[in-house]
Amino acid sequence: MFNKLIEKLSFSSDEKFDLLHTIDLHSHLIPAIDDGVKNLKQSISIIKQLQEMGFKKIITTPNIMRHRFPNSKNAILYRYEILKKELIKYNINIDLQVASEYYYDEHFLELINKKDLLTFGDNYVLFEFSFHVKPIGIAQVVFRLLELGYNPILAHPERYLFFNDIDDYYALKDLGLLFQINLVSLQGFYGKKAKKSAEEIINAGLVDFIGSDIHSEKYVDAFNKALKHKLYPKIFEKNYIKNDFL
Ligand SMILES: [Fe+2]
Repeated sequence: MFNKLIEKLSFSSDEKFDLLHTIDLHSHLIPAIDDGVKNLKQSISIIKQLQEMGFKKIITTPNIMRHRFPNSKNAILYRYEILKKELIKYNINIDLQVASEYYYDEHFLELINKKDLLTFGDNYVLFEFSFHVKPIGIAQVVFRLLELGYNPILAHPERYLFFNDIDDYYALKDLGLLFQINLVSLQGFYGKKAKKSAEEIINAGLVDFIGSDIHSEKYVDAFNKALKHKLYPKIFEKNYIKNDFL
């Protein structure tokens, strides 16, 4: 059955294909709250396109980053309710949920210790590092999250410039971190380094979740293409992908 599905997916990119996952867990679709969509019209347009592509559930994850996007949990939940009402208005029947993509800063540590994080699924917490500066204290923070019952997911591990070696990724996984790669990395959307690292992480079987990380229309096009990329079905051969259990 699974092999048949893989065969079915190995064809030209124009043909209709079946998605291997139908739940997305990383996007920026709450308007004007981070560097994602700017208004409700864009949100609705992108959500509709994802639905047409076959997605059944979207967990959108606005940034919480003290110095750039100082969003509170309440501000996110309030705007999420507005977006949900808009979906009803346009008769769009999709399961939209909300959490956050936390930036690894002092504020994140405060929120962890207050047990005040926006989670989804099995108490999952999505977070990211700076792309350029290697963070300190990762092991302690991951340990604290696990100790408090959270299941931390590192967003797009392939994109951090300071992780180059596959051993770096094994070390992070050994801490108990889960990995979410951005599918568009496979087609070089973020450059060569992210593409190469994504391939290595996939081949090593270290991927737990796949994300779109959609911020705007241009990401939707790239994501749609990435779903037809020859490596897309291979991710599922080599990794235990948990998106559809969310
Ligand atoms: Fe993101």
